[in-house]
Amino acid sequence: VDLRAILRRKRDGEELSGAELEDFVRGFVEGRVADYQAVALLASIWRFGMSAAELAAWTRAMLESGVRLDLARVPQEKVDKHSTGGVGDKVSIPLAPALAACGLAVPMISGRGLGHTGGTLDKLESIPGFRVRLSEEEIASAIDATGVCFAGQTERLAPADRGLYALRDATELVESIPLIASSILSKKLAEDLDALVLDVKFGSGAFLPEPGRARELARTMLALARDFELPCAVWLTAMDRPLGRAVGHALEIAESIECLSGGGPEDLRALVTGLGGELLALAGRAPGREAGAAEIARALDEGRALGVFELVVRRHGGDPAVVRDPRRLPRAEAVDPFLAGADGVLSFADVREVGRAVVALGGGRTRVEDAIDPAVGIVLRRRAGDSVRRGESLCELHHRSGRGLAEARARLARAIAIVPAHEPAPLVLERLGD
Ligand code: URA
Repeated sequence: VDLRAILRRKRDGEELSGAELEDFVRGFVEGRVADYQAVALLASIWRFGMSAAELAAWTRAMLESGVRLDLARVPQEKVDKHSTGGVGDKVSIPLAPALAACGLAVPMISGRGLGHTGGTLDKLESIPGFRVRLSEEEIASAIDATGVCFAGQTERLAPADRGLYALRDATELVESIPLIASSILSKKLAEDLDALVLDVKFGSGAFLPEPGRARELARTMLALARDFELPCAVWLTAMDRPLGRAVGHALEIAESIECLSGGGPEDLRALVTGLGGELLALAGRAPGREAGAAEIARALDEGRALGVFELVVRRHGGDPAVVRDPRRLPRAEAVDPFLAGADGVLSFADVREVGRAVVALGGGRTRVEDAIDPAVGIVLRRRAGDSVRRGESLCELHHRSGRGLAEARARLARAIAIVPAHEPAPLVLERLGD
């Protein structure tokens, strides 16, 4: 391949062929393309975007840079859900066991938190003993045993994405719709799925806040899934406020257990049942998404989803007693209120600041190698759209002897706005799919 010709052509906004893109990705994984050359191409993609044909070829090359999970031994339909991330988004944790309780298998390869959002794997690790670093063989046997596996991306799944994502992260090239879509889909396609549901967030806590951009990402991912003949639905959901009440690792596990027990906040339950209903319908296990949602609701209400979660915790080496007694989760010694400064209606001026407040308390990373304190966090006592009075408690801060408390308070003061009137965005703005 003429590497320089590829870089030059994309730099000038020309369309690359599938063969050129495949050669480039292969060269990157094999070390023939230097990091600075990869960054040059990524920057041109960031600038000019990709045609549908380029995007499909690029995604296929990333998928084929590694292995696919071999789930031949698992007879159930395999499904997964991916969210573009947000503050308090713990949907995957109750959803995966609920789907397994309804007869599906869920090979959930998840990520870790970085910046203002927490990661599913970090949240699960707040359960004492819970292991998420599994080999492909361990992943397959866990799914065979319980119907669910929560694991990190292995060395061999979509390795091109691992390397390219690290470069994007270091060079301010993350927020490109084709680069995001191909990164997410290449990893999901490696799970060998029968159906996928995507939850694309919009609002100040989302990583594409503007609804128009979020919708464009949703459309791009749906079209890409169709290119690979993967049945898929996409929801655009609100992140103009945190999801649920709890933000922080162990606190979110406790809230997930409430949801798995048939309770918990309404918005969390609505996404778990709704997204789960989509997957049951897409996998042909329910006559439609509403019927599927009702089936998920029954699995939560009858305790079957919680029963699966207990098996999953045990299988991953975690303390299963936590599931029946969440007080065994790590807890911060001190809990202080955050008080309303005025009368009015609660709204969030910047949801990211809620996530950053938790990071300030020690519950997040600013660098990949940082350790997380699973016990700290924030629990909202009032929700967006509620009328509040000056001096009442809007949320609780769970902290370790005041560590980071002043910064967390300052960030919450920026996150929260008490206004004369406020109507939060609809939880589900739009659904795309068949
Ligand atoms: N998550 C991913 O996996 N990839 C991206 O590019 C962005 C978010």
